[in-house]
Amino acid sequence: MTLPPDAPGPSVPHLLLGVCDYPEQVPQDRWAPYARQQRELGLSFVRIAEFAWSRMEPHPGEYDWAWLDEAVETYAAQGLRVVLCTPTATPPAWLVRAHPEILPVDDQGRVREFGSRRHYDFASPVYREHSRRITRAIAERYGGHPAVVGWQTDNEFGCHATSRSYGGASAAAFPGWLEKRYGSLEALNAAWGNAFWSMEYAAWDQLAPPILTVTEANPAHALDYARFCSAMIAEFQAEQVAILRECSPGRFVTHNFMIFESGFDHYEVSRGLDFATWDNYPLGMLEFFAPPGYEAQKLEYARTGHPDLVAFNHDLYRGLLAGVPGRLGRGGPGTPTGPWVMEQQCGQVNWAPYNPLPADGAVALWTAQAWAHGNDVVSYFRWRAATAAQEILHSGLLRHDETPDRGHAEVAALNLEGFPAGEVPARVALLHDYESLWIYDLQPHSAGLNYWAQTLAYYSALRALGADVDVLHADADLSGYAVVVAPAITLMTPERAARWTAAVEAGARLVCGPRTAFRTVSGGTPEGGQFGPLAGLLGARLAQFDSLRPGLETRVAGPGGEYEAFAWAESYRPEAGTAVTHRYVGGPLDGQAAALCRPGGQGEGVVIGAHSPALIAEVLRGVLGRAGVDTTDLPPGLRLSRRAGRTLLQNWTAGPLTWNGIQVPPVSFQVRPD
Ligand code: GAL
Repeated sequence: MTLPPDAPGPSVPHLLLGVCDYPEQVPQDRWAPYARQQRELGLSFVRIAEFAWSRMEPHPGEYDWAWLDEAVETYAAQGLRVVLCTPTATPPAWLVRAHPEILPVDDQGRVREFGSRRHYDFASPVYREHSRRITRAIAERYGGHPAVVGWQTDNEFGCHATSRSYGGASAAAFPGWLEKRYGSLEALNAAWGNAFWSMEYAAWDQLAPPILTVTEANPAHALDYARFCSAMIAEFQAEQVAILRECSPGRFVTHNFMIFESGFDHYEVSRGLDFATWDNYPLGMLEFFAPPGYEAQKLEYARTGHPDLVAFNHDLYRGLLAGVPGRLGRGGPGTPTGPWVMEQQCGQVNWAPYNPLPADGAVALWTAQAWAHGNDVVSYFRWRAATAAQEILHSGLLRHDETPDRGHAEVAALNLEGFPAGEVPARVALLHDYESLWIYDLQPHSAGLNYWAQTLAYYSALRALGADVDVLHADADLSGYAVVVAPAITLMTPERAARWTAAVEAGARLVCGPRTAFRTVSGGTPEGGQFGPLAGLLGARLAQFDSLRPGLETRVAGPGGEYEAFAWAESYRPEAGTAVTHRYVGGPLDGQAAALCRPGGQGEGVVIGAHSPALIAEVLRGVLGRAGVDTTDLPPGLRLSRRAGRTLLQNWTAGPLTWNGIQVPPVSFQVRPD
């Protein structure tokens, strides 16, 4: 593929920076000075126009490109490279009024109205047509412009709970999707177990979205609705990607995903992209998205965000397009760069319950961490704070009065050559799967836990031991990994079990958390109960599971000591050849197996049944040691991340920390050769 002149090639030498800018929101006489200042700050990219449909097409079919032509030329004149967006996150008023049927419906059956953003139903054939039309129009206009180096589709699929519409076009399309999936109503009724509570369907048009039911809807029904909505997003995006590829050859196509967004299968939706990008708001994330278990840390990390929550999202999005070994996060040969942080917090946000200012040093620390976790570009949100509408209270690199804000100085001081490109050398894979997330969270069974909380307990334990981690799909190629951790992969298929078994045969050490392999692809329990096709590998069956309300903790004892477990405890009936490494102490599970280890082939299968950070840390330390992966005990708030033969040492706390004799001042980082 031929890249536009001066575009970053596959060998981006080091981290590059960008910014999100909104020429349509400021007077035109500000464009040239802003572009000049952006270049002077050392920025290379500017992302524009993701919400500008009403300016691109003020009236049906009447395009106005003059302003966007001028804006693109203004950035180009300063040598900035432009990432253009399809503006489909914000259908204009004329379109909504002419076609109210494009509007989405919430989970209470109410239509979500015009007046903010993301007000459309992914399944709407009318909206799909307009999405293709505006995509083609902008792609034909700018697809060959030398300053335009890439495209972002839409903006943050799923933001504001918009991945699922529960009426209108989606409700109309759902039965047809089910008919394709199951072929017959007999098959659907059997898969969903609809004999239970007389839920059987006798005609396709009897099927509806799973809302407003008297008590919980059948989880199998809800699971398929999640799949259906995800498929609609994937189709919606694929239509745009195809047009962009046709009209803008040689440019990359990406999408900016969100923090812990759970409403669609990101692996499915990102399939046609060159690389993934995501929007990193560490403070808002801690306040707004942190799963159970982070309450106590919200104050401690209020001005930096939690290192592991941010790191997890970096690793997740780097691994989204994994599949080509050694090219994590890259779409394939010729991909210009990737992955990126498309929107990076650089001051306070406006959308969390509390929106503190970041600590001095936090913007630089977030940028360095993004580099160490594999990102080639960090693009700040936004250039100048908005002076009108919903986001007035949100900061930018410039204040409302156009003077540089706090983050600006930290960006100006970055030494980009100190952040060279290169691979993240992870020997540990942590497995993730949106279908497991959906079925787990449909029936959490313990208010103190959910899929992300359980997954993060394992991820954090690995980070506290100093391990670098690739987050991969549960069906990814596992060759080359010394340790594979499956914290909450509750949905099991025979193919998945076979792949994991082969990885263990070949030498991987597999660690599974509670509820692993407890559900089938249609949400039932596997033949033979928990573990199903994994029972041979793990050498055990489920005995009991216990849901623990706060105050009802249980204890687990093993070689390293005795630990408290909370929220969830399950016990096992081991077979001959399976070692019980930990047992419950007291309570209804007293004396029963809480953790197991079974050798298999060149590797081993390990199961941890109790939710206990101390137990998880002890077991992982042992497994990493046996696998020959170096570990270290990091103090809370100090983290290591490795890339390109260097180690980034980070202090995320308000006090100095020491590791291996190295002092790291508060909210700061050091890049050291390995
Ligand atoms: C993101 C979004 C941006 C802006 C930002 C504010 O979720 O993509 O458009 O709203 O949040 O933090």
